[in-house]
Amino acid sequence: MIFANLDKLPPDPILGVTAAFRADPSPDKIDLGVGVYRDDAGNTPVPAAVRDAERALLDVQTTKTYVGPMGNAEFNQRIVELALGPLAAGLEDRTATIHTVGGCGALRVGAELIRASWPDAIVNVSDPTWANHEPLLGSAGVALARYPYYDAASRGVAFERMLEHFGRLPSGSIVLLHACCHNPTGADLDAGQWSALAEVIENRGLVPFLDLAYQGFGDDLESDVLGLRLLAARVPQLLLALSCSKNFGLYRERTGALAVIAGNAATAAAIATHQARTARRMYSMPPDHGAAVAARLLGDPALRAAWASELAGMVSRMKALRELLAGHFAARRPDRDFSWLTRHRGMFSLAGLDSTAIGELRSTHHVYVPPDGRINIAGVSEANVDRVADSIVAVLD
Ligand code: LMR
Repeated sequence: MIFANLDKLPPDPILGVTAAFRADPSPDKIDLGVGVYRDDAGNTPVPAAVRDAERALLDVQTTKTYVGPMGNAEFNQRIVELALGPLAAGLEDRTATIHTVGGCGALRVGAELIRASWPDAIVNVSDPTWANHEPLLGSAGVALARYPYYDAASRGVAFERMLEHFGRLPSGSIVLLHACCHNPTGADLDAGQWSALAEVIENRGLVPFLDLAYQGFGDDLESDVLGLRLLAARVPQLLLALSCSKNFGLYRERTGALAVIAGNAATAAAIATHQARTARRMYSMPPDHGAAVAARLLGDPALRAAWASELAGMVSRMKALRELLAGHFAARRPDRDFSWLTRHRGMFSLAGLDSTAIGELRSTHHVYVPPDGRINIAGVSEANVDRVADSIVAVLD
């Protein structure tokens, strides 16, 4: 019997939290798990500008014939322009971009390319990193290592240790960096740190692989890509995985791209052929709808401005929730410092919860967080903040 040797697997560390939350009949349950934005009513909206772009697209789209393994060419160009800004034009002939099945697809195609062209490469990821980074990249067959990133005591970036570590990595090592809104810690590099890091990356000949899953979710569309642009202006080669899940609210449309900046135009042209072959062999072509919507929105100045202002609204809500929750924690535990909550950026913070606390949160308080103790700030609301604060404070050591 084929498959008879397969044992049942444990739940996915993040998606398993959603499943457990859905199965909990308690009316008081609170989901601080999977990284989706929520409004005050607990809904994950499609931004109005995205819906408008979608409607406009439906009016003019006359075919759904294949687009090809590289996906939607207009999307590829516009999404890279959004990320790289004024640098995009100058780098165009050295950039090979493939539209992928979400940001995960971009990371996976990137890992496949790395393994195919340099089987001995080591991809270094932050410690800690998003729970799916290592499974996603590692199952493409690339070797993985970790670099120091998070300082649990200060709840900030262990920058000196990180820099020192980068300074010792062999030339050609690949370093996976979260462009903004570090997942799961919420601790980001500041402008000075990005600049110092870029210098070491350039001098050591390291290859940055940027994961940009949250552009516009930290501070704004421009500030969130400052580090990426610093690197792109400096280093000869770079990989960039882009996701439209959060900022465009296109989660289930699986819309992303992998842009590879190569040393020269001929290499970029060759990379494009390998990107296409990789996609063809794995899934053939990406789904078009989300990319067509995002391309349409980005190409329409009015829709783009409306979207940027909706995004700004989401960011100010998340920042306000951070203030609110920090205030509630401080009121309950004046002996402890919760200022890290307002220093962090994006949807996530590590709340310093151990596995016992996480289990107790779920079983006693019906509050759901992933096994690394990450909390999704967007899951907090005016209505549940008291319960969130009470529950977390009750399980803190
Ligand atoms: C998350 O970190 O929760 C999101 O990126 C969703 C996912 O696929 O894990």
